[in-house]
Amino acid sequence: MRTLADLPDLKSKRVIVRCDLNVPLDGTRITDDGRILASLPTLNLLLEKGARVIVISHLGRPDGAVVEKYSLEPVAKRLSEVLSTTVNFSSSTTGSIATEFVENLQDGELLVLENLRFHPGETSKDEAERIAFAKELANLGDYFVSDGFGVVHRKQASVYELPGLLPSCAGLLIQKELEVLTRLTETPERPYAVVLGGSKVSDKLGVINHLLPHINQLLVGGGMVFTFLAALGHKVGSSLLEADQIETVKGYLARASELGVEVILPTDIVVASKFGTDAEVLVTPAEAIEETPFGGSGLGLDIGPDSAAAFAAVIRNAKTVFWNGPMGVFEMEAFDNGTKQVAQALSEVDGLSVVGGGDSAAAVRILGFEDSAFSHISTGGGASLEFLEGKQMPGLEVLK
Ligand code: 3PG
Repeated sequence: MRTLADLPDLKSKRVIVRCDLNVPLDGTRITDDGRILASLPTLNLLLEKGARVIVISHLGRPDGAVVEKYSLEPVAKRLSEVLSTTVNFSSSTTGSIATEFVENLQDGELLVLENLRFHPGETSKDEAERIAFAKELANLGDYFVSDGFGVVHRKQASVYELPGLLPSCAGLLIQKELEVLTRLTETPERPYAVVLGGSKVSDKLGVINHLLPHINQLLVGGGMVFTFLAALGHKVGSSLLEADQIETVKGYLARASELGVEVILPTDIVVASKFGTDAEVLVTPAEAIEETPFGGSGLGLDIGPDSAAAFAAVIRNAKTVFWNGPMGVFEMEAFDNGTKQVAQALSEVDGLSVVGGGDSAAAVRILGFEDSAFSHISTGGGASLEFLEGKQMPGLEVLK
């Protein structure tokens, strides 16, 4: 893969950098700026070399229309706080306004263009439309650096078509992500444990399938665990359940047992009378979710304390751990213990500890863990899972 070392002298050159600055927002307040901070090494390197840096990114899924709440302006503001140079913001992604901003950009300065996905060409299914938009973007720069790891699995104009239109390479974040994630697939030190949570089994099928032959333990929590419990014949009340995945999960359990992989499921569950901070809450054995006073309307919203302790013990003992997906509804205090215990244990691993992106990355930061507590927090949610599934990623293929 081409890297920054392959680009010649960058002084006074207009360098377009595709970042993934798709950060969670509460109004205009950024609740987790991890992806912004992870973009800094590449941006600082280019700025130090005297390049004129043009940052492009998506935010949310505005589907080709201008949707005010998905403006990148708060992100540009945050960048101006963490970079020691002038940060400009163009309220248009392309066209005369963007061109004027680019023309006024000085060496060592940075410009953020408005959300790529406000333009229908970015995510269009029609290749000609994507190419046309990529050409408009390419006109703004001399070089292209791809550094939005979180979006390399998408075949979109700025990820897939644009790199072919300018001399291009991967940035430092993509290099770092690939280095760490490759260690998880090639020669992991053992024991190797994978911890999966989050709401949907269907999002994790590919990764379970691909990783099973390589790992020693699979620990499952979060909303997806109820499909596992149902596959074992347990009733799960009103907890999240993907009934159409029960047979697939049974297949994975059988395959894991053939491969000698230990599948560790929670033995107790935190069950709530309803979804909300004012719910009544009880801890019950995993096979007795419907036997609480809430009956069939009880909702499992976290793994129980015994399970959290058991998961933590397995994680602490591992030499390689990959974790994707919270163990419960960590945003509410009553249901954050499982995720907290898993994060704490992961921070104590004497080996490689990797937090998959998306919700789990946000969870560890919201729960107060420092990034440095783990070997790596990936900036890719779907992208890191697809990488571990062994899938070809359009945004990486095009840089080869
Ligand atoms: C992510 O949050 O996983 C990336 O930014 C990609 O976003 P998307 O799923 O909307 O393409």
